[in-house]
Amino acid sequence: MARSPGRAYALLLLLICFNVGSGLHLQVLSTRNENKLLPKHPHLVRQKRAWITAPVALREGEDLSKKNPIAKIHSDLAEERGLKITYKYTGKGITEPPFGIFVFNKDTGELNVTSILDREETPFFLLTGYALDARGNNVEKPLELRIKVLDINDNEPVFTQDVFVGSVEELSAAHTLVMKINATDADEPNTLNSKISYRIVSLEPAYPPVFYLNKDTGEIYTTSVTLDREVS
Ligand SMILES: *[C@@H]1O[C@H](CO)[C@@H](O)[C@H](O)[C@H]1NC(C)=O
Ligand SMILES: *[C@@H]1O[C@H](CO)[C@@H](O)[C@H](O)[C@H]1NC(C)=O
Repeated sequence: MARSPGRAYALLLLLICFNVGSGLHLQVLSTRNENKLLPKHPHLVRQKRAWITAPVALREGEDLSKKNPIAKIHSDLAEERGLKITYKYTGKGITEPPFGIFVFNKDTGELNVTSILDREETPFFLLTGYALDARGNNVEKPLELRIKVLDINDNEPVFTQDVFVGSVEELSAAHTLVMKINATDADEPNTLNSKISYRIVSLEPAYPPVFYLNKDTGEIYTTSVTLDREVS
């Protein structure tokens, strides 16, 4: 669960609240604010004739209950016309497996998260929010809500094989490729959380070193020290 630096930027996604004129509104209420860069209360951004869906970002591996409700849909039209509206959400985590990740209040449109998330299991949820009248008809165009699960560095790299075997001929030239080792990491690809570097823990005999390792590629080469089977 070690936390690496440089990931605070993702939190900037959190405090966005859009108001899109008359229609179904999405409020993103998840406002944990580690950097204190963001205002305490979501502010509304008005846009004409456009649906805007703001992504919600939730970090894996932590108790999110204090962030509830994480989102809310609201229909202005219903308010204007005095209609009784029922809100509904569908999608992964609610009506598709894994079930029970989210729950909602059909009267207020509030959406809560109920579970600790695992990015390696589900990196992304796409929900659809509905505002329905008494007959179950859409009062508004259904709204797409994207929920991204933020990665933490919760996976150790693992070697792809238990044993890597290399061989090299006696008296090989310096910088001959002997072998390549390989490991994988289940954390989010192309981030520091999944970046792997290799290191030689021990080498026998240690001195003079006859091999060196490229820490980024896992390739092991001979040094300029001459390999002599009768000695090594
Ligand atoms: C969502 O969470 C809020 C805050 O904890 C709570 O007041 C509300 O009752 C919850 N709603 C549902 C549908 O669980
Ligand atoms: C390492 O192993 C993985 C899984 O077997 C494979 O997909 C990947 O291509 C390998 N990488 C290298 C650099 O050999």
